[in-house]
Amino acid sequence: MSSIKEEINRRRTFAIISHPDAGKTTLTEKFLLYGGAINLAGSVKGKATARHAVSDWMEIEKQRGISVTSSVLQFEYDGFCINLLDTPGHQDFSEDTYRTLMAADSAVMVIDASKGVEPQTRKLFKVCVMRKIPIFTFINKMDRDANDTFELLDEIEKELGIATCPINWPIGSGKSFKGVYDRNKQCVITYSDTEKGTKEGEATEIPLDELDMLTGFVGEDLKDKLIGEIELLDGASAEFDLEQVQEGLLTPVFFGSALTNFGVEIFLQHFLQMTTTPLARKADKGLIDPAENNFSAFVFKIQANMNKAHRDRIAFMRICSGKFDADMEVKHVQGGRNMRLSQPQQIMANDRKILTEAYAGDIIGVFDPGVFSIGDTLCMPKEQFTYEGIPTFAPEHFARVRQVDTMKRKQFIKGINQIAQEGAIQIFQEFNTGMEEIIVGVVGVLQFDVLKFRLENEYNVDIKLEPLPYEHIRWIENKDEVDLSKIVGTSDMRKVKDLKGNPLLLFVNSWSVGMVLDRNPGLVLAEFGRN
Ligand code: G4P
Repeated sequence: MSSIKEEINRRRTFAIISHPDAGKTTLTEKFLLYGGAINLAGSVKGKATARHAVSDWMEIEKQRGISVTSSVLQFEYDGFCINLLDTPGHQDFSEDTYRTLMAADSAVMVIDASKGVEPQTRKLFKVCVMRKIPIFTFINKMDRDANDTFELLDEIEKELGIATCPINWPIGSGKSFKGVYDRNKQCVITYSDTEKGTKEGEATEIPLDELDMLTGFVGEDLKDKLIGEIELLDGASAEFDLEQVQEGLLTPVFFGSALTNFGVEIFLQHFLQMTTTPLARKADKGLIDPAENNFSAFVFKIQANMNKAHRDRIAFMRICSGKFDADMEVKHVQGGRNMRLSQPQQIMANDRKILTEAYAGDIIGVFDPGVFSIGDTLCMPKEQFTYEGIPTFAPEHFARVRQVDTMKRKQFIKGINQIAQEGAIQIFQEFNTGMEEIIVGVVGVLQFDVLKFRLENEYNVDIKLEPLPYEHIRWIENKDEVDLSKIVGTSDMRKVKDLKGNPLLLFVNSWSVGMVLDRNPGLVLAEFGRN
């Protein structure tokens, strides 16, 4: 029997981020293969089945063949218990993706070697930086013609503003991909795709000073190129510094090919050594150390409609400290009452496994009878504290919602409020108009479709969405000190309030934001609020 501390210390919880098609699913599938969670590569994916399997909760996903929600996979490898948080794979994404990152202790960024840094990577990366979580880079698809390696690293440094430290270095790419050079061991690990991705092929290790042997494997040209590049690299690249990695200032970089399964296990092994055990989390009473405290958790995601017949909701929580036992009583701090968590489960692909215990670092889903909100804290009945809220990200698209059939007012209000409570959308109202006019704000435009679809299917309400031109939103940070009616605005500015009554300003242009700040000394505006 291992102790609670040992169980926590062997946990590693990370999110995997990428632009669609960079190879996130393929890489995940290979991780699971090593973990023995699946027997044969391809059984998670095979695209149609996999995408389907991982999240067929929402009809809309099936119809569009994309993944809108994120899921959690747990697997064992080499004594580690790994929680992998998958983030939605569509370029148009929701706040869910952001929130998933809030539950992770580190992130793996997958980059397509022929494409470099792509828009979605950039967006997700910003959130990682904000949270200062360590980022590990896997440059994928080396079996295809890749961009110049130095240029790829340069792009990461410039576009994302993080220093890079290659742990290994590719030799050739595409048809002439020969393997990677391990900078620490100073040897070349040769590429083989003979196993066609079913497991890591038998690699040969050649020390760099065995020049003849090396030339035999990679050819004269690539050998010379490699030696030149190593010299350059040793002179120019940042030194590996674990502390900097853990502060999110330096990203270790690995190269490989997830499809042909080269470099994946090398990556996994290094990653598990470098990434962190479950981190302490900030609460109102200070940092909560995972191993030194009893059970506590926070809700980072609410998934509705897991079962349409029951209109049920699952609240996903990240355990931040201690051990969770299925039959124990916990306190829901925001709800102000004690409860037993109903049907605690671990969700893997479309399998739900009922859990009896779980530890800090783990993610559990519990049945939510409608009491939880995003950001809520759970702890032991005798304790009382709240975890720092999850930021509400600024929506970038806005629309006015109109009901087609005004007779269904009640269902409409109920539906839109519940969907907003889950955090799928944000709703805003004018100050004096009640619920007559509702403005919806979303991070990705796909959420508009999700809203329309869900109101129709779950609440039997048809709506029309009229796009509004706003692109910038600011919360009034010092709302208690400001007289709202006295704010001197610009012609494009609009005053609204959010679900909790907080005042906000909407703007069409970013310069108006500056203008309003100039015109109203003392006004403090924030780009995101907190749940
Ligand atoms: P995503 O989850 O990041 O969206 O990417 P996914 O793994 O689905 O991969 C996108 C496409 O890239 C897939 O091809 C996949 O087979 C391919 N791919 C992933 N890793 C590699 C790699 O290392 N090398 C090469 N050459 N290709 C890779 P597809 O044709 O869209 O799908 P499928 O028909 O293969 O399933």
